[in-house]
Amino acid sequence: MVYPLARSALFLLPPEKAHALTLGAVRLRGKVIPPQPPAGGPINVMGLSFSNRIGLAAGFDKNAVAVDGWFSLGFGHVEVGTVTPRPQAGNPRPRIYRLTGDEAIINRMGFPNDGAERAAARLRSRHSSGVVGVNIGKNATTLLERAIDDYLFCLRTVFPVADYVTVNVSSPNTAGLRSLQDPEQLVPLLSGVVAEAHELQRRHGRRVPVVLKISPDLTTAELREVAGAAASIPVAGIIATNTTITRDGLESRRRVPETGGLSGRPLFAKSSAAVRVLRERLGPDMPIIGVGGVSSAADARALRQAGADLVQAYTALVYRGPRLVHELADALRD
Ligand SMILES: Cc1cc2nc3c(=O)[nH]c(=O)nc-3n(C[C@H](O)[C@H](O)[C@H](O)COP(=O)(O)O)c2cc1C
Repeated sequence: MVYPLARSALFLLPPEKAHALTLGAVRLRGKVIPPQPPAGGPINVMGLSFSNRIGLAAGFDKNAVAVDGWFSLGFGHVEVGTVTPRPQAGNPRPRIYRLTGDEAIINRMGFPNDGAERAAARLRSRHSSGVVGVNIGKNATTLLERAIDDYLFCLRTVFPVADYVTVNVSSPNTAGLRSLQDPEQLVPLLSGVVAEAHELQRRHGRRVPVVLKISPDLTTAELREVAGAAASIPVAGIIATNTTITRDGLESRRRVPETGGLSGRPLFAKSSAAVRVLRERLGPDMPIIGVGGVSSAADARALRQAGADLVQAYTALVYRGPRLVHELADALRD
């Protein structure tokens, strides 16, 4: 079907219903259509081989139900999650809002998910061989002081089936989570996770890079500090960025609804600025995955120029449809 038509129908539904329908359709697609032939690859980042530079950002497929389908759409990697140790319901609905004129979304999902074990079981039975990252977080009810226990539990659970693991300390929808970006908390957290990953590597005979996902709401000084802390561990890469709690760059006349994280086009200025600061601070070797408001081939190229090795997208898929995947992948062919 032509996407504008499908979009008109989907936009008649509440966003979360439309999301569930889309996920179901992608899942079905994965059962009948094989992974698209690689475009633009192979590309080596973090010791992993990617068929192209474009990935699905975390949150679209939290429970890893449609991984084969995403690869059939042409993604070079898929990041599932955020998963937490125990299943949880997330925040009360409604919790996703479309800002159509801005091609943006505000969400305050709060990590609804089936738990790390269910996601791992699904990943064990996937058919495609593309790169899958698993994004991990903490349960809402876990005290911040015990957050590391949740990250370690998730790491151990998904380690055998993940190609990389993302430590998510940047979602605005879990109380206090972003305070884990303070170097005083970040360094012990990341050190613990990376040390455990080394231990698991010995036990399982496979290497799983650990990457850090950060917020776009850090100041330039904070960004530099976080980058320095991450490089001192070291982590294998940094994903910049998650959603923003600011409402900068919105053109929508109507009152901006609700609290939550803003994604989509208005985020691009912040995410690309963050990538640029990180690249300057970290030098050429640290892998950076750029994400936030990438909606066109030009955006993808700009983020790459700012210093991103790989680029992810979520919100633009809602507005532009699945063709965007090939458009972005083609734009970043070497
Ligand atoms: C509805 C929704 C749910 C999301 N859930 C997660 C999540 O669970 N974990 C995470 O790290 N990022 C999550 N994100 C953030 C995206 O991965 C991405 O960082 C952000 O949306 C910016 O990219 P975009 O502008 O291309 O959407 C979510 C985004 C949206 C719109």
